[in-house]
Amino acid sequence: MTQEITLIRPDDWHLHLRDGAMLQGVLPETARHFARAIIMPNLVPPVVTGAQAVAYRERILAALPEGAAFTPLMTLYLTEGTDPADVAAAHDSGLVKAVKFYPAGATTNSHGGVHDVDKVMPVLEKMAEIGLPLCVHGEVTTPEVDIFDREAVFIDTVLDPLRRRLPGLRLVMEHITTEQGVAYARAGGPDLAATITTHHLILNRNHILVGGIKPHYYCLPVAKRERHRLALRQAATSGEARFFLGTDSAPHVDALKEQACGCAGCFTATNTLPLLAHVFEEDAALDRLEAFTSLNGPAFYRLPVNDTHLRLVKHPTPQTWPEKIFTEAGPVTVFNPGFPVFWHVES
Ligand code: DOR
Ligand code: ZN
Repeated sequence: MTQEITLIRPDDWHLHLRDGAMLQGVLPETARHFARAIIMPNLVPPVVTGAQAVAYRERILAALPEGAAFTPLMTLYLTEGTDPADVAAAHDSGLVKAVKFYPAGATTNSHGGVHDVDKVMPVLEKMAEIGLPLCVHGEVTTPEVDIFDREAVFIDTVLDPLRRRLPGLRLVMEHITTEQGVAYARAGGPDLAATITTHHLILNRNHILVGGIKPHYYCLPVAKRERHRLALRQAATSGEARFFLGTDSAPHVDALKEQACGCAGCFTATNTLPLLAHVFEEDAALDRLEAFTSLNGPAFYRLPVNDTHLRLVKHPTPQTWPEKIFTEAGPVTVFNPGFPVFWHVES
């Protein structure tokens, strides 16, 4: 029996588009299914000022395929030199929807991020005053802390103290990967939310390491134990307003993934929606997929929900998608979940 589901057109609340040839190559993959996305600012050099965000937005709009209806929601990369007045002006422009907090050294192009929270307090205080959300990459960078513990330690030693110090700050815990992340997000009020990626609903750390190392499953924060994946599944499929989709689709060309020191990132823009339909169906929660992809995010960001729709159909045979996207920068491997997927986006 053919099954189908119609969703309010989804948004992606955490997306890497890069720039230049890579942007040109990957943007159609997102614009095909998503109406809007929060665009990460970790370019080289990063998008730090309001003027840089406006210029990057123009480059994204120029790279859109003919006729595509896609709105990039811009972010600023928080540095210890960020000017609170520039952030406020960027917010006033209506084009910048969040500021991204990278602990310095935590991930791709994060070395210009934050070493010392004290140094960014004036910016965070201004953001609390104007209601501009802070998107947080929640991992400590302390060398002694085990990589699998870095999210939980960040919550205790950085995030919770910051939220106690500045209770008015609206904050998104980006790409949570642990039961501690789920529990902390749940304990917060309406000014706290968490995004969850597609790949963290599918992978645990065995998928990366058992039977040979799988560079295309390596991302940051790294996938954790199975019990954490199950906690994420329960959160995503719960329908609770504080949890919504941020794919963290993060393209790197294959040459940079498949080498002795490979880059972090899973590229899921192409097949995220069929994969989510599969996951939600497996957990008997298809009726809550729309909350996760299309309702909870706009509610947190105080934006209207989209007025167009997307139809997913479940076919009797496994569906396919391109194994790679061939960009002018080089090939990018599309995330392979390792199981057959019967869902397909029809329109
Ligand atoms: O896996 C990741 N890739 N995690 C991040 O935090 C950054 C991203 C990237 O920019 O490649
Ligand atoms: Zn990211």
